[in-house]
Amino acid sequence: MQIVGHNIIWLDEISSTNDYCIELCKNGLATEGLVVAVYSQVHGKGQRGNNWASEEGKNLTFSICLFSKLDVEKQFILNKIVSLSVCDFLNGLDIKAQIKWPNDILVDNKKICGILIENSIQGKEIGYSVIGIGLNVNQKQFNEPKATSIFNILNKEIELKEALNTYLKSLEYFYFLLQSRQFEKIEKEYYSLLYGYKKKGEFEDDKGSFTGVIEGLDKFGALIVHSDARKKSVYQLKEIKIHY
Ligand code: BTN
Repeated sequence: MQIVGHNIIWLDEISSTNDYCIELCKNGLATEGLVVAVYSQVHGKGQRGNNWASEEGKNLTFSICLFSKLDVEKQFILNKIVSLSVCDFLNGLDIKAQIKWPNDILVDNKKICGILIENSIQGKEIGYSVIGIGLNVNQKQFNEPKATSIFNILNKEIELKEALNTYLKSLEYFYFLLQSRQFEKIEKEYYSLLYGYKKKGEFEDDKGSFTGVIEGLDKFGALIVHSDARKKSVYQLKEIKIHY
């Protein structure tokens, strides 16, 4: 039985699909795998408190409600499977994508997709997760020079509903890997697509820019960067930026 996307609600306009889903989850109105997608998202939320802007009717902006019952300590694995599922979907269109930690999706060093996962913690478990995805599909022009879309790569438009249905199959697969505890497979695939893994790259922390090498992630999902310029090597989500 299909879990992810068994029920998809398409709306014309709302503030944020993440906020909408959080309300549904809080009020016990969401079922596992429910998807809310919108053509016009007025106040899309991004990582680090940023906005997520998306041209009306051009892109996929949607959220998925999941009740994984994962240990809080393992929560980053959700980021991994969601990133992998987006790369898998793009791969199906012959687009080679990479994951920029924690979970931006890049194609040719440009951002094509942003992911915002909001978890509610209940004791030692995740109560619910709202997985928000903004995937640039048919938008042609961006204010941000380091942004791209499927159209800009393939030079053809893609039907949004069809694209969402296809994408959800990828997520269903990776969610199955998670639920069946195939963690090693997930790890292996994640590292094979991790941008800058084991390569020299440019980073920025609160002290400024520096050169280093991504050695991997710790078991909580923090980034391990080795550098002659820093004593510290383990970085939490807001402590480091990867230049690309
Ligand atoms: C990022 O900053 O890269 C994350 C962007 C996440 C945007 C998506 S669009 C659908 C969902 N609803 C939101 O308000 N944000 C996410």
